[in-house]
Amino acid sequence: MKKQIGMKRLLQAALKAARISYSPYSRFPVGAALLTAAGDVCVGCNVENASYGLTLCAERVAIVKAVSGGMQKFKALAVVGGSGKAALPCGACLQVLAEFCSPDFQLILAPLDDLNKSEVFFLGDLLPHAFAMREKSE
Ligand code: THU
Repeated sequence: MKKQIGMKRLLQAALKAARISYSPYSRFPVGAALLTAAGDVCVGCNVENASYGLTLCAERVAIVKAVSGGMQKFKALAVVGGSGKAALPCGACLQVLAEFCSPDFQLILAPLDDLNKSEVFFLGDLLPHAFAMREKSE
C-alpha cells in the first residue's frame, strides 16, 4: 500500500518544482504539487514566455499534467512562491481548481525561503463564488 504523503513532503515537492521554474521575465519562481486521491504527486512550475500573456502558472501546469495523465480526483495542493509570506494562487488557477475540487479542498501555501511559514486555506474561502455553467452530471 502507498504511504500517505504529508503536508511537509508535499511542500518539499512544490519547492523542488519551483527550482526548475522557467521565469526569466518576472524572476518569480512558483512550484505546485498536487496530491491525487490515489496518493500520487503531480508537480508543476510556472513557464513564462516572451509573449507575456502566454505564461502558464505553476498550479495550472500541475492540474493539466494530472488530468492529461488520467487523474481527476485530488486531495490537496501545495504551492511555494514568493518570499517572507505565502503567495496566494491567482483567480484563474482557483477557477481551474474549482473545476475538479470541492470548496473544502485544502491549499497549503508557503514562501520559497521558509516552508515553515506555511498557511492552509480552503478553496471555498479563496474563491467563494466560482463560475459554473450548470450542475455537473457525473
Ligand atoms: N504565478 C504562478 O505560477 N501562480 C500563481 O498563482 C500566480 C502567479 C506566476 C506567473 C508568473 O510567471 C509569475 O508567477 C509572476 O506573476
